Amino acid sequence: MFNPEEIKSHFPIFRRFEREGIIYLDNAATTQKPSEVIEAIVSYYENSNSNVHRGVYRIGEEATDLYNKSRENIASFIGGKPEGTIFVRNATEGLNLAASSLSRMIGKDGEVIVSRMEHHSNIVPWQIASQNTGIRLKMMESNVESHLKWEDVEKYLTDKTKIVSITHASNILGTINDLREMGKNLHDRGIIFIVDAAQSVPHMPVNVSDLDCDLMAFSGHKMLGPSGIGVLYGKPELLEEMPPYMGGGEMIKEVFEDHFIPADIPEKFEAGTPNIEGAIGLSAAVDFLKKLGMENVRAHEKDLISYTLRREEELNMPALRSYGPRNPEIRGGIYTFNIKKDSKDGRPFGNEVHPHDISHMADRIEGVELRSGHHCAMPQTVSLGVYATARASYYIYNTREDVDHLFNAIEKIGRRMIR
Ligand code: ALA
Repeated sequence: MFNPEEIKSHFPIFRRFEREGIIYLDNAATTQKPSEVIEAIVSYYENSNSNVHRGVYRIGEEATDLYNKSRENIASFIGGKPEGTIFVRNATEGLNLAASSLSRMIGKDGEVIVSRMEHHSNIVPWQIASQNTGIRLKMMESNVESHLKWEDVEKYLTDKTKIVSITHASNILGTINDLREMGKNLHDRGIIFIVDAAQSVPHMPVNVSDLDCDLMAFSGHKMLGPSGIGVLYGKPELLEEMPPYMGGGEMIKEVFEDHFIPADIPEKFEAGTPNIEGAIGLSAAVDFLKKLGMENVRAHEKDLISYTLRREEELNMPALRSYGPRNPEIRGGIYTFNIKKDSKDGRPFGNEVHPHDISHMADRIEGVELRSGHHCAMPQTVSLGVYATARASYYIYNTREDVDHLFNAIEKIGRRMIR
């Protein structure tokens, strides 16, 4: 039985707010951490702290073993191979690595396609790569109803297209894109397929073989793990071909006065002392999620978003405008909205209660913690006709009662702020 209340008891931060109450609904930004993750990190520091891949003494070997086993565990969670599992700081760093390395590989005539649904981590690295190497970046259109699939991508391909990099799930609309046929069709045309899985790996079963992607990035802190650790997964044969991203210790086999020989993968892409505690913490987070079962995590979030959409209809508040597909089958646990200030203003957009005010009031009035702003996805936000939105995003410890509190807050804010 999936029991969010029991799950919540594993998270020390919720004990701090036991009396006053806290309804944490900013899980797309970062999730809370269970004791199991915190204890794994503390235990590493208390018992085995040492650098990895260097010391041949007891704790050095222990630390190396913990680090390597963490990699194996995380790789198996996404159905991947350990040598394809590169530890990076977060999805952002993974995508920067991909953009920097691949743009040098594909040459200046190459085209890269992303979508407007991307967060900045899957846009700006390609813009920088374009400035540095001359590659061309194209952005696929998408709107509130968009559910990106192969046919949408196909329209943008030319004989110069070398890379398609696309989000699995939108951090604003909650849309879960249909990537099923993408890998095969792109590979048939010799195109590299990259998946930004920052908002999918934490919330549903994701398997790199099923996706047939060449590279996939995600962050640990959005899936119960510590911050500062994430993964760029890559097909080993592609990673072997890609030039290194950062230079330094760990990523070399040999260094001479005028050149170096890179290490084998994955170390080739892990310059410097790695985030050992981060890898161990993320592995503990993966254990926690494995016990729950990712199918159950997805089913729970699907229930919460279905309930949210029902509550929205029941509230029937004309000034409330939300964004994203109405079909819970293709929607993650994300509810993004605005409240119009003037109910008589016939314009579709403009004149909203500022989302920062919504976020501030929701916390003060109802203890509900929301994110507000452009959510690191300005092209998508601006395409909605606004500069900012308020956003609730759910995770394993949220309940239908939390959704009720969200709608209490929306109703109360509406009463205070709508003219
Ligand atoms: N991209 C993260 C979010 O959606 C930071 O909040």
